[in-house]
Amino acid sequence: MKPLEVVRFLLQDKGREPVCDTATAFAPLNIALIKYWGKRDTALNLPVTDSLSLTFPEWGTTTSLKISDTASCGVNGITLGWETPFGQRLKQFLALFELSTPLSFETSNNIPTSAGVASSSSGFAALMKTLNLLYGWELDATSLSLLARLGSGSACRSFWPGFVMWKRGERPDGLDSHGVPLASLWPNLRAGILLVDHTSKPLSSREAMRLTRETSPYDRFWPEIVAHDRDAFLDTLSNPDFQTMGTIIERQALSLHWLMGTSTPPTLYTQPGTIRAIQQIYALRASGHIVYWTQDAGPNLKLFFQALDEVPVCQAFPDLLLSDPFAVSDSISAGARSL
Ligand code: PMV
Repeated sequence: MKPLEVVRFLLQDKGREPVCDTATAFAPLNIALIKYWGKRDTALNLPVTDSLSLTFPEWGTTTSLKISDTASCGVNGITLGWETPFGQRLKQFLALFELSTPLSFETSNNIPTSAGVASSSSGFAALMKTLNLLYGWELDATSLSLLARLGSGSACRSFWPGFVMWKRGERPDGLDSHGVPLASLWPNLRAGILLVDHTSKPLSSREAMRLTRETSPYDRFWPEIVAHDRDAFLDTLSNPDFQTMGTIIERQALSLHWLMGTSTPPTLYTQPGTIRAIQQIYALRASGHIVYWTQDAGPNLKLFFQALDEVPVCQAFPDLLLSDPFAVSDSISAGARSL
């Protein structure tokens, strides 16, 4: 099946006429603890392995769509042309929905775009939620997850709070490859985004994944590494132990960045500021404050610690963008539309 056919199938009884003039929705970003790296189907964004994430409810993307005479595209208040890479990707995604009217699109992230802090995950999730409101489709979270995955794989995990598993699925059409919320709660868990470098990433995750798949002699070991760490992670959710969990999270990040480094040419997202921050984390750990980190397709880090260590961690990293992942929050389901 092609993406267009998947969309037609999922929207088969839904209208393509808007039910209101404007719609706005927020979606949170999610950070992978067990990483997605490599596609078994590039057109449908179907992954080679399962992955597992934690939603950061305070951080993400707000997107508005407005019925308009001419289509336009704005990011963080700046108008972007449709010929830019962002504009092209958006246009390609919107074309899948065979909509009847031009749309004016405006999106803003409360975290920097393209700095490896997974803003594409919240971006495509917010866009799907907004389309759902504007066209009155009333899709459930699983259908939204399936559709958002067509824009960006990791977006399919942004429709639920807490820990979310993205099952790789077996079907060639990908209809069994979507986010699934895990029941585990970890109220004392705290997280944070540490921006160590504000420059845009040199290579998109899409390109870097392709390079790894096509050129790394070690890519064939990745499914085994992920399956091992996924099972170990699920064990720690049943028998909570923060140090074991943190060790798995860090090991996943180190394995991912090692694997990327074995492609030709090697992919290197790490910057001097990344290493300095990791050394600071290790120093904090040595002084008894248990903090772990992960890193995605960019130089920045995400930190994980427990509520009892929040003060020393924030003292060490005063600019940390804090998240309380299990705090009661309406942000996951936030959305508004106006006539
Ligand atoms: O969905 P993408 O193309 O933004 O890729 C995400 C890749 C990682 O963030 C490195 C891992 C993941 O599972 O989110």
